[in-house]
Amino acid sequence: MKRVAILVSGGGSNMVRLVESMTGDHPARPVLVGSNDPQAGGLVKATEMGVPTFAVDHRPFGKDRAAFEAELIRHLDAAQPDILCLAGFMRILTPGFIRHYEGRMLNIHPSLLPKYKGLHTHARALEAGETEAGCTVHEVTAELDDGPILGQARVAIEPGDTPETLAARVLVQEHQLYPAMLRRFAESL
Ligand code: GRF
Repeated sequence: MKRVAILVSGGGSNMVRLVESMTGDHPARPVLVGSNDPQAGGLVKATEMGVPTFAVDHRPFGKDRAAFEAELIRHLDAAQPDILCLAGFMRILTPGFIRHYEGRMLNIHPSLLPKYKGLHTHARALEAGETEAGCTVHEVTAELDDGPILGQARVAIEPGDTPETLAARVLVQEHQLYPAMLRRFAESL
């Protein structure tokens, strides 16, 4: 049985779907949910689902990313994860952290990579006059939002869409894509 740790920064809706998916004949189980924000709503949801949690507030570390990440790794590795899923985790990770989990770290990004890496993806797609948008599950490598793509889901951009209406439509697809890609990845290990 593969052990999955998940990092969140906010509400954790993707984390909830991942945890809910790991049942029955699924080859993986959630072992830990962590956050850089002790107030993250995702931590409450994880606890309600019976998954152990931790938080490392990144703010006291200031610019010392390495020290913050060392503390993340201390908590994560105590749970001995086989797979690390980033799910709405909003901190940039250093190559050192990524090397530690290279080959077993996934992320979901709300755009059709390689388009719209970085933030504000929906506003930028609308601004550019795109006719479709979507989300991507990819392996995390040292280059931001750039690793091997495991899968994508597309949605049409509708007339009158705002970043909020588009984000809501894409999020529905994220909630289906990420669990499917995690299962396929876990089966491949
Ligand atoms: C989602 O748009 C996801 O694509 C991005 O973070 C946003 C919030 O995710 N990575 P969640 O609801 O916290 O899972």
